[in-house]
Amino acid sequence: MNILIIGSGGREHAFAWKIRQSPKIDQLYIAPGNAGTAEFGTNLEIGTTDFQEIRQIVLDEKIDMVVVGPEVPLVEGIHDFFLADELLKKVSVIGPVSRGARLEGSKDFAKEFMFRHGIPTAGYLSVTKDNLEQGISFLRGLKAPYVLKADGLAAGKGVLIIAGLADAEQSLREMLGGMFGQASETVVIEEFLSGIECSVFALTDGKNYKILPVAKDYKRIGVGDTGLNTGGMGAISPVPFANALFMKKVEERIIIPTVNGLQRDGINYKGFIFFGIISVNSEPIVIEYNVRMGDPETEAVILRLKSDLVDLFEGVANGDLAERELEIDSDAAATVMLVAGGYPGVYNKGDVITFPDEVPGSILFHAGTKINGNNIVTNGGRVIAISSKGKDFREALKVSYQNASKIEFKNKYFRTDLGFDL
Ligand code: AMP
Ligand code: GLY
Repeated sequence: MNILIIGSGGREHAFAWKIRQSPKIDQLYIAPGNAGTAEFGTNLEIGTTDFQEIRQIVLDEKIDMVVVGPEVPLVEGIHDFFLADELLKKVSVIGPVSRGARLEGSKDFAKEFMFRHGIPTAGYLSVTKDNLEQGISFLRGLKAPYVLKADGLAAGKGVLIIAGLADAEQSLREMLGGMFGQASETVVIEEFLSGIECSVFALTDGKNYKILPVAKDYKRIGVGDTGLNTGGMGAISPVPFANALFMKKVEERIIIPTVNGLQRDGINYKGFIFFGIISVNSEPIVIEYNVRMGDPETEAVILRLKSDLVDLFEGVANGDLAERELEIDSDAAATVMLVAGGYPGVYNKGDVITFPDEVPGSILFHAGTKINGNNIVTNGGRVIAISSKGKDFREALKVSYQNASKIEFKNKYFRTDLGFDL
């Protein structure tokens, strides 16, 4: 089988690494990929939303399956584009159609979906310029801090958590005034929930689902979860507090109603569902949906997946996921992200990365890297994800940290306290 992976981060490198191990794979392509993915397949200089160029390569290279890594092409309708094309409609696309992708593409849609299907989530009100006054009085009825979310995609930056009411009212007006462009023409005001978060992943063919290993990522740039939000500074899997009882609640109250709800709404959802869960007094509540795998969670989770990922994807495409095997390694995994100094603010690109001959016990998944002549250079804020296994997450982290010090590039930074809260 020939497969095309869409995307260019650590998640896509991890997919490429895993897919390459499948006996079912012939040719593997990655658009656009990075220096790491080039080791497992052919990188193509095609953007993730260049649907016409993707179409051409799928036809030219006889691609059987397209695995979509990031959310933007899904929200922009890549799966719908394939279904609407006579020559492409037989190609399997792993990732939902745009109506399904609205679970991530519109926070207002996701909240409405959860309330309608009885899925536990924070109370909310959606506000536009037309009901601003109602929004202000809703805010005044909430307890601090105040949660304001841009409805649309905002590259992970669209959520504000504000301590004071006057500031929250001000920010609400600014968001509606275009702080995040079109994405904040609608703002979701949410009740603040206090608890500890984890990332739950399911793969579904639209009817059946498989639950992948649970993970926890670390979003803040600074030690002790301080400073600005990033795409993710590392991840561990499994998550001690997400024990069997907790996961049973997640499955019964959240995963099953979500898969059934999509079906009832006539959405034929094929792909990953990422449930951002917060545990409030050991009760799981949905913070958000994403319609893809997490990054850097994938770089940890994938190490624990014993089964053939391509076989599972075939199950998604054929609608017989229930008959496919999902085997999970009981060992733990951890990922430490090396980032460029200055990230998530201004940072440099193009710095040469030097690698040691060996990184014992770890796998390096490239995030923002590219090949430049004989060198591999930095090409993004998040540069290399160092993933390792261990008996528990602390042991896995220790291995990643040992190797973190051996990889060098200018102004390298990483968090040294992952797992501090567990
Ligand atoms: P989101 O993009 O919706 O996941 O929000 C980003 C982050 O903001 C989450 O990972 C949470 O840490 C935090 N957050 C979002 N919604 C809430 C909420 N209702 N209560 C508390 N924290 C929240
Ligand atoms: N690590 C969180 C995300 O992928 O959105």
